[in-house]
Amino acid sequence: MDQTPPFDFDELFDSDYLYFYEPMLNDERSDATVDLLWELLELRPGMAVLDLACGHGRIANRLAARGCQVTGLDASTVFLERASADAEAAGVTVDYRHGDMRDLPFADASLDRIVCVFTAFGYFDDDGNRTVLLEAARVLRPGGRFYADQHHLLSMVRNWQEEFSLRRDGDWMIDEHDYDAATGRTINERTILRDGRSRTLHYFVRTLTGPEWRDWLHQAGFSSAALYGEGGSELTMDSRRLIVVGAR
Ligand SMILES: C[S@@+](CC[C@H](N)C(=O)[O-])C[C@H]1O[C@@H](n2cnc3c(N)ncnc32)[C@H](O)[C@@H]1O
Repeated sequence: MDQTPPFDFDELFDSDYLYFYEPMLNDERSDATVDLLWELLELRPGMAVLDLACGHGRIANRLAARGCQVTGLDASTVFLERASADAEAAGVTVDYRHGDMRDLPFADASLDRIVCVFTAFGYFDDDGNRTVLLEAARVLRPGGRFYADQHHLLSMVRNWQEEFSLRRDGDWMIDEHDYDAATGRTINERTILRDGRSRTLHYFVRTLTGPEWRDWLHQAGFSSAALYGEGGSELTMDSRRLIVVGAR
């Protein structure tokens, strides 16, 4: 029996996503994320960096502006078009590619860093999620580093919110959340109310605990994994975000 819950990829990562999340993913927040990446990953100009599931390029374009050789890979054409337009407007060069994070179009040991930002991990069954890490390990050179951040499961469950909403002008995005303890996934139903129209879509996210991240990264071939809370702080049970940095 296939127990995979629905994941409406095309309906989730579209222009409505950009419309509702843009105010949250503003310049200040994106700049702060890039500052943190720079520090945690010891990024340097000239490094070959992959922004894995790069979305609309807010991180990739900034890393390119700081002199990194950036590839942005994503499966959403809508997001990639916006990323390329913003890169051109900013006068930066990023190699944007349409692709699947489970099958990376790079030679073994060819990249210095991989960043996977803002809950861009956990969209598959566990074989698929592990494949993402195996691929990351394959394409990173020895000493290369991988970054990911997710909601922190412990604090998410302790402060469980069945509903989350974003409002922009008169429009609403409303998420109803459930948690499947057997698979470690949040199961989400999203309703979009925009311009007088309503639609509903579904997605899930496998959220790993800190120890799971360590195990999964080691099993994928990483030699070490460091865990942090939001902003690179110490990870505690109250941390709302979990950041992991794996070293190859
Ligand atoms: C929550 S968004 C984060 C985007 C971006 N990292 C950011 O910080 O703005 C998750 C991204 O994962 C991408 N994605 C989902 N499944 C993917 C896949 N199989 N391969 C590549 N990208 C995928 C989506 O298109 C979306 O851009």
